[in-house]
Amino acid sequence: MKIIIVGATGTIGKVVTTELSKRHTIVKAATKNSDVKVDITSIESIKEMFRQVGSFDALISATGSAHFGLFDTMTEADFYKGIKSKMMGQINLVMVGKDFITDNGSFTLTSGILHKDPIRNGVGLSFVNGALNSFVTSAAIEMKRGIRINVVSPGLVEDSYAALGAAFPGHIPVSMPRVVQGYLKSVEGFGTGQLIEIY
Ligand SMILES: NC(=O)c1ccc[n+]([C@@H]2O[C@H](COP(=O)([O-])OP(=O)(O)OC[C@H]3O[C@@H](n4cnc5c(N)ncnc54)[C@H](OP(=O)(O)O)[C@@H]3O)[C@@H](O)[C@H]2O)c1
Repeated sequence: MKIIIVGATGTIGKVVTTELSKRHTIVKAATKNSDVKVDITSIESIKEMFRQVGSFDALISATGSAHFGLFDTMTEADFYKGIKSKMMGQINLVMVGKDFITDNGSFTLTSGILHKDPIRNGVGLSFVNGALNSFVTSAAIEMKRGIRINVVSPGLVEDSYAALGAAFPGHIPVSMPRVVQGYLKSVEGFGTGQLIEIY
């Protein structure tokens, strides 16, 4: 398969890329250091990426950011950071990409554990994760041409524990090989509309 991995150079994306590149052709996408440049906060940039890559069989998104900070001090602009990046950035990869993907292709997005196991400072991420999960389960039933769509929702991955662990008290870090299996299940499996939770 020809697989676009957006966020291919990130903590999760680079390990997923290493695994899938053993048996597929990977197009690495990110804002820099990648085969194709894309900024998911710009729909024009997303359109340009698909114009450059052309048709493809699967797309994985392992990217997207959101505001991290105390709920009490959050502004409307802080909510829109996550809407613009992690939420609409990933949704727009699907909305634009569905015209370029082959029959029976698949989209795999990334949300995260915070939609149901919240942490202090996490509202900006939690509400976006919930929106992404709902987008995937609802869009799946209207996808045409056999196109599938799933979302992987990992817990805090072990590779991020040193940097982020203090913000996630009580969370058990998830091993990276388990997280990778979530993406393999979506891309190489046959399910659709699935919330693939890796906790
Ligand atoms: N790490 C965890 O423990 C964890 C747990 C649960 C969920 N998640 C979610 O998983 C996703 C990936 O997390 P991660 O920790 O792997 O992130 P990361 O290490 O920060 O990597 C982010 C990746 O996305 C690219 N990127 C950043 N901004 C972009 C943009 N505007 N447009 C396109 N690409 C962009 C980065 O490359 P460039 O900088 O070159 O663009 C990089 O390849 C995020 O949605 C995160 O919330 C992570």
